[in-house]
Amino acid sequence: MLHNDQLDQWDRENFFHPSTHLGQHARGESPNRVIRTASGVHIEDRDGNKLLDAFAGLYCVNVGYGRPEIADAIADQARELAYYHSYVGHGTEASITLSKMILDRAPANMSKVYFGLGGSDANETNVKLLWYYNNILGRPEKKKIISRWRGYHGSGLVTGSLTGLELFHKKFDLPLAQVIHTEAPYYFRRADPNQSEAAFVAHCVAELEALIEREGADTIAGFIGEPVLGTGGIVPPPEGYWAAIQAVLDKHDILLIADEVVTGFGRLGTMFGSDHYGLKPDIITIAKGLTSAYAPLSGSILSDKVWKVLEQGTDENGPIGHGWTYSAHPIGAAAGVANLKLLDDLDLITNAGKVGAYLQQGMRDALSDHPHVGDIRGEGMLCAVEFVSDKDSRIFFDATDKIGPQISAKLLEQSSVIARAMPQGDILGFAPPFCLTRDEADTVVAATHRAVTSVLG
Ligand SMILES: Cc1ncc(COP(=O)(O)O)c(C=O)c1O
Repeated sequence: MLHNDQLDQWDRENFFHPSTHLGQHARGESPNRVIRTASGVHIEDRDGNKLLDAFAGLYCVNVGYGRPEIADAIADQARELAYYHSYVGHGTEASITLSKMILDRAPANMSKVYFGLGGSDANETNVKLLWYYNNILGRPEKKKIISRWRGYHGSGLVTGSLTGLELFHKKFDLPLAQVIHTEAPYYFRRADPNQSEAAFVAHCVAELEALIEREGADTIAGFIGEPVLGTGGIVPPPEGYWAAIQAVLDKHDILLIADEVVTGFGRLGTMFGSDHYGLKPDIITIAKGLTSAYAPLSGSILSDKVWKVLEQGTDENGPIGHGWTYSAHPIGAAAGVANLKLLDDLDLITNAGKVGAYLQQGMRDALSDHPHVGDIRGEGMLCAVEFVSDKDSRIFFDATDKIGPQISAKLLEQSSVIARAMPQGDILGFAPPFCLTRDEADTVVAATHRAVTSVLG
């Protein structure tokens, strides 16, 4: 076992951690943790602490940790061919096979997959392709992208703009002007507590219509949304939301990007969230669950409709001026092939649906009567518990009380269970690996109950 006593010091002196309070970390005021190994749903740090990871890393290690099938595929690929590029028609057995496997699983009318490295760069690609698409179609004004408040689509320039969370904009001069935001489909946080779900959906649609009217449909290229809001709070859409939104988009010829970075490849208990909710996307973003994060790989799955225009574009203008050195990296592709095979062989998506429902029911049984638990929600292997200061009048806690972070810290300290305090609101998020067992789900529920009662009484 590597146990280098200088790691803590080296970490604080040298390592710029993402999404971290930089000053506190550098000064040693916040804890750090060095992860050494992992297996199944558990990770282990270098001090030998074993933790149940009920968030699968960043909801990405979907098949669970330590799968030799994927590790071997990566090692074999690295030995055989660690790298070759995919420009000007080059490919590898892994990247070509994976593109076929993805299209075999994708919703109808999907045509091609472009490979990137992570969800952010895939969404950057998607926006560029929509701009190209409209230029080829002779509609140079049709460029803006509508996103939702609380959507999460990455933290690049355009994708950080698409992300509808304040933290990702503040002091970064974002959002960029081409990105506009509309209402989040977050029924629990509706302004009027007496509003019905159907009336709330009608309100979301009216907000979207009004935005399109204000901006002009001929200036709007696309709408991006996660089938289930993820980082913004793990919020499944209200009944009828997607059908109503899709109708508005179709009416105005606004293309839909379904960001399935979290939901793609089984997290909802079905292969894609688009099929789950009946969306008809023009582009689908995939990442995390494509390789279960064993290697970085993302993708943009393009519909026939988009693809045909791209083909026309290159016929008129020459090769597409878009590509990364690591597009379709063979090691990522080999990991993807092994990962998708494992999902099938072990029937893990079925397990995600069943044990996910069991986990959610367990949370309801344990916590719905608690006076500070305002909402328990989820879909498939995604679950969230939202806390309120006053349940009847639905008053939220002050953000400075940091109730969500306190509960997740307590969960870790008392029970060695990792859940994520979602960044906006007091929301505890769960997104375990799909191989979670019922016993492990029971452990997560009991630990959560204990942490909630320790912090909130
Ligand atoms: C829905 C969604 N889209 C995009 C991203 C960005 O992916 P990445 O962090 O790989 O750039 C994320 C990351 O959590 C995500 O949840």
